[in-house]
Amino acid sequence: MPLSERQTLTQYLIEQRRRFPGASGELNALLLDVAIACKGIARAVAQGELGADPASANADAGDVNVQGEVQKRLDVISNQMFLRQTEWSGNLAGMASEEMAQPYPIPARYPRGKYLLVFDPLDGSSNLDVNGAVGSIFSILRAPPEVVGAHRDLTEADFLQPGTCQVAAGYALYGPVTMLVLSVGSGVVGFTLDAHIGEFKLTHPNIAVPEDANEFAINTSNSRFWEPPVKRYIDECLAGRSEPRVKDFNMRWIASMVAEAHRILMRGGVFMYPRDTKDPSKPGRLRLLYEANPIGFIMEQAGGRASTGRQNVLGVAPSSLHQRIGLVFGSRNEVERIERYHQEPARKAPAPLFAERSLFRE
Ligand code: F6P
Repeated sequence: MPLSERQTLTQYLIEQRRRFPGASGELNALLLDVAIACKGIARAVAQGELGADPASANADAGDVNVQGEVQKRLDVISNQMFLRQTEWSGNLAGMASEEMAQPYPIPARYPRGKYLLVFDPLDGSSNLDVNGAVGSIFSILRAPPEVVGAHRDLTEADFLQPGTCQVAAGYALYGPVTMLVLSVGSGVVGFTLDAHIGEFKLTHPNIAVPEDANEFAINTSNSRFWEPPVKRYIDECLAGRSEPRVKDFNMRWIASMVAEAHRILMRGGVFMYPRDTKDPSKPGRLRLLYEANPIGFIMEQAGGRASTGRQNVLGVAPSSLHQRIGLVFGSRNEVERIERYHQEPARKAPAPLFAERSLFRE
């Protein structure tokens, strides 16, 4: 299809809005501002080492975020881009991000709006050093009416809404091309940034995750910390054509969740960063509000599933802003199988590959 015939993000959003005559257009305006922030981040990421002088663009910013992770310069820049591009519009009552310990209230000089924006401005940023794919993840929630009406200040509790309450969610992937993938609750669509005109163009109008898969993604260096249902699942994948799966599996690990989510949306598969016993103070690696929930929303909207292993991740009632959680997502039949393994009573003998022939000996 000639490029000029493809819908722009703006056209797509306006057409979606026509289906809801009562809609004010604020959600669309917010999404367009988020898209501008993502274009800015895409540029900054693409500049790499050239982007900052005299220090390297990928250098550590020196601070440690609330996760205890060293912030890269681009983490900080990306966070600022989200804040500056969206705070002024009157569409938001507040924001929260991986890079900020506390929620960010909209400055008093701007009107308050009815939405909350939660984001991970640069996911997978350890890939920056190696010129690998990184991305931004965002989730949009409704703000409580008292906060919108300025009858009280924004609090952390305002963000503690289960993933089912998300109004929209999406991610930008900064790979060989920049893509924006989003859902406003009626399926999942993907846009590719046309760098010549600086517009996101609709290239993936109806993204659906295949129900079955033969590809899994997990950080196998954690295998000795996995819980038995996870060991069982991976062992069975490794057993391949032998019983019980009777098909061979392939493995991928990019260490950039956005990139893994995108691959799974394109061709199926399952991603796991499950709860494990590595650090008892951390019930998982990924963050519920700005990683697991938006990706979970996208997966469900694309016909896939996202789970803690024990329950649908979108049903989890958050207890804190930066809460971590075990996460499994992707092709529905695989995720449901992993959930079944968590429900079944613990099996006494370890799965055969783990006992003797495992690559991942306990
Ligand atoms: O934000 C967390 C993240 O960067 C994810 O994008 C990625 O899946 C994970 O961490 C990688 O973790 P690890 O370094 O343990 O493989």
